[in-house]
Amino acid sequence: MGPPPHGGALVDLRVEPDRAGDLAAVARGLPAWELTRRQRCDLELLATGGFSPLRTFLDRADYEAVCTSMRLVTGELWPIPVTLDLPESVVEAASATGGLTLRARGADVAVLWLQSAWRPDPAAEALAVLGTTDPTHPAAQALLHESHPWYVSGPLEVLELPRHHAFRSLRHTPGDVRALLAQRGWDRVVAFQTRNPMHRAHQELTIRAARELDANLLLHPVVGMTKPGDVDPYVRVRCYQALLPTYPPGTALLSLLPLAMRMAGPREALWHAIIRKNHGATHFIVGRDHAGPGVDRQGRPFYEPYAAQDLVREHESELGIGVVPFRAMVYVEELQQHVPEDEVRPGYHCLRISGTEQRRRLAEGEELPSWFTPPVVAAELRRAFPARSERGARRAGR
Ligand code: ADX
Ligand code: MG
Repeated sequence: MGPPPHGGALVDLRVEPDRAGDLAAVARGLPAWELTRRQRCDLELLATGGFSPLRTFLDRADYEAVCTSMRLVTGELWPIPVTLDLPESVVEAASATGGLTLRARGADVAVLWLQSAWRPDPAAEALAVLGTTDPTHPAAQALLHESHPWYVSGPLEVLELPRHHAFRSLRHTPGDVRALLAQRGWDRVVAFQTRNPMHRAHQELTIRAARELDANLLLHPVVGMTKPGDVDPYVRVRCYQALLPTYPPGTALLSLLPLAMRMAGPREALWHAIIRKNHGATHFIVGRDHAGPGVDRQGRPFYEPYAAQDLVREHESELGIGVVPFRAMVYVEELQQHVPEDEVRPGYHCLRISGTEQRRRLAEGEELPSWFTPPVVAAELRRAFPARSERGARRAGR
């Protein structure tokens, strides 16, 4: 059921139970590396097949092909480098034993059998993948100033997935999502990516896409790593849970995606589509400035607002997942309706809606009117971000 995964088969790197005991013992004797947050997210999606057809962190040949041509050596589209960066001392220790135990919050989760190690050029990678080395781009900052100097690759054996303690019933592997979709008999499924509490433009995109395609909806928010300064994932998940019952009964599924975003705009949008295809979605929504990191040091947007949408559409047939593009969804005061910007007739007054503006209003304790944020979401946000009047009242001890 569902579209075939990228590359044809859903990858699953978790070892069989009869291998797990031996591997756990071997892991205890190897040098170990505590994964960074980004690496932990990447490992989870490698392990479960969210990144199919990847079976491990990229080796040098694939890495170079991905940077220069958005493809793996085999020719498959793959726009974002998924790499394991390490300090030299760890590479040396792993070379001596041949293996490296990967840990997530202290637990041994995988063994990487070291096959290759090289020193990448982070500035060249940033330019190729992100189009910039400006440190106001969070992924450029991470690559140029926080990344370790060596990249390594080799076969991966996974003992267990990194553990999560919150919202466990909303966490599913791609195989789990495919099974849930099949159980429900959903054969047309449009996936929605977000890293924000859903505002009215987001809500409108999902309602319109499901209606226009006669499809069910997979609400697939990222809870791994998003842009620094984003609303905390715990708060966001409560917002998604509050919004879910506003869809017609039995038409929408909420699942949390443990992805580490790079905010790479067009290349990232392509990656998002591949990941959703791997989870069994048949369609994917790409709106305005998808995975955009905002503005650079000169105040200019890093990417054109529809560059992401254009790149995904260009590769739509090769990808095998339908793209559902939207122009900026605005609120037209005179009509009291949300409408794509390009459908608004001249003379009407349009109000813009964005995650950035929503975060600003929250930080300033401003109102979230119902044309901007769905009331059920606003109520959740209010609990985490008291309104200005309430904050004033609290400070005054009232
Ligand atoms: S992100 O992945 O693009 O960083 P975000 O939560 O900001 O996540 O947006 C989720 C999706 O909604 C993206 O496809 C984005 O293009 C789209 N989107 C957000 N706001 C609007 C808007 N006002 N009009 C049209 N599309 C929008
Ligand atoms: Mg956005």
